[in-house]
Amino acid sequence: MERPTEAVTGSAVDAPPFSELHFGHTELLPTYRADLRNPGNERYERFVDLNVVRDWSLLTWKQVGKPFEVKNMSKEHRAWVEANGGRAMPAKTSWELFNRSFHAWFETDVPARLQETRRELLRAFGRFALRDVRTALAEAVKIRFWNYAHRIQDGIWDPRGKRALFLGLPLHNPRILFLGAAEGYEAMQLSAMYPGGEAVLVDYDPYCMTNRFADFPARYPFLGTNPATGAPKVWYKEQMNLHYVVSDIRALPFGREFDIVLSVGLLEHFPDELKPEVMDWHRKFLKPGGYAIMTTPRNQLRARLFYRIMEDVMNHTYRELMTVPQMGLYVYENGFDIRRHGIIKVHNGIIAQPR
Ligand SMILES: C[S@@+](CC[C@H](N)C(=O)[O-])C[C@H]1O[C@@H](n2cnc3c(N)ncnc32)[C@H](O)[C@@H]1O
Repeated sequence: MERPTEAVTGSAVDAPPFSELHFGHTELLPTYRADLRNPGNERYERFVDLNVVRDWSLLTWKQVGKPFEVKNMSKEHRAWVEANGGRAMPAKTSWELFNRSFHAWFETDVPARLQETRRELLRAFGRFALRDVRTALAEAVKIRFWNYAHRIQDGIWDPRGKRALFLGLPLHNPRILFLGAAEGYEAMQLSAMYPGGEAVLVDYDPYCMTNRFADFPARYPFLGTNPATGAPKVWYKEQMNLHYVVSDIRALPFGREFDIVLSVGLLEHFPDELKPEVMDWHRKFLKPGGYAIMTTPRNQLRARLFYRIMEDVMNHTYRELMTVPQMGLYVYENGFDIRRHGIIKVHNGIIAQPR
């Protein structure tokens, strides 16, 4: 196995902010929501809508239609294409832009920025400077949208939805491989729920390891399981056995050695002719009996609005929005049996096994 580029193992969190005493509690912090509600997952079906398709073999593309392509691109992307004589931007470059701009939002102190944008708007109004008013207004809308999507709704990390989707798999000390891991959120959520194993996080943009993952809040509480008792327990990133590998997925040296191969927001970035290869990435590292877990953004009106308002932050690369039957058909026709499928706040989720 390639040596991990970084390991985070077993160190203690300084004065952990939350413990089992805080079960049921939720709190808005400046950059995220801490959510310790429903620690035993008793009401899991409130957060996931499961298994709407009965027989995948009966579904056709004619019935389900094709995904919606998000075509509006960021200013940075457009400027790059223009400066490069109309050439298509290489995928890796587009991810480098995406990861830097997205990360800046996760790092933003939202209450402070809300106040700042209010002041900027008032100042621009005061000067009757129309162009400044427009810019300040656009900034004010973006931060309010981010506040709603990420902090109030917690739609991006969606811990209750993700737990509901990942719940109840027959796994013991699993080895988890996260393809295109970015900050690694879902590998941490799975590690908390299925502790005692190892998670390997892979991304070819080094910034994901050095910034997105490294800056992920050490004090963020993940609800999972106490392996000694089976009772709910609060976990922190630094208590987990996580290895980050900076590598192209296509160059990974692993064999069929993982119990879970996971991706979050990967499949929809590849047009149809490349989807079989992406599905193959999810198959080739799985142990017999292992699970591919995948999520992709839903095709909802509010998602289309999000990628419109946040286009300069998010839209650097090819992207589709899809329904769960569309996503499932890609998974099914590429040789997987679908064990569970559902929708959570903003993503579709599928758990599948190679046929
Ligand atoms: C859309 S992101 C995943 C969404 C993520 N949850 C987030 O919050 O950004 C996809 C990630 O996959 C990585 N990626 C794309 N193609 C890759 C490849 N061939 N090898 C390794 N990483 C890749 C990108 O660098 C990016 O960080």
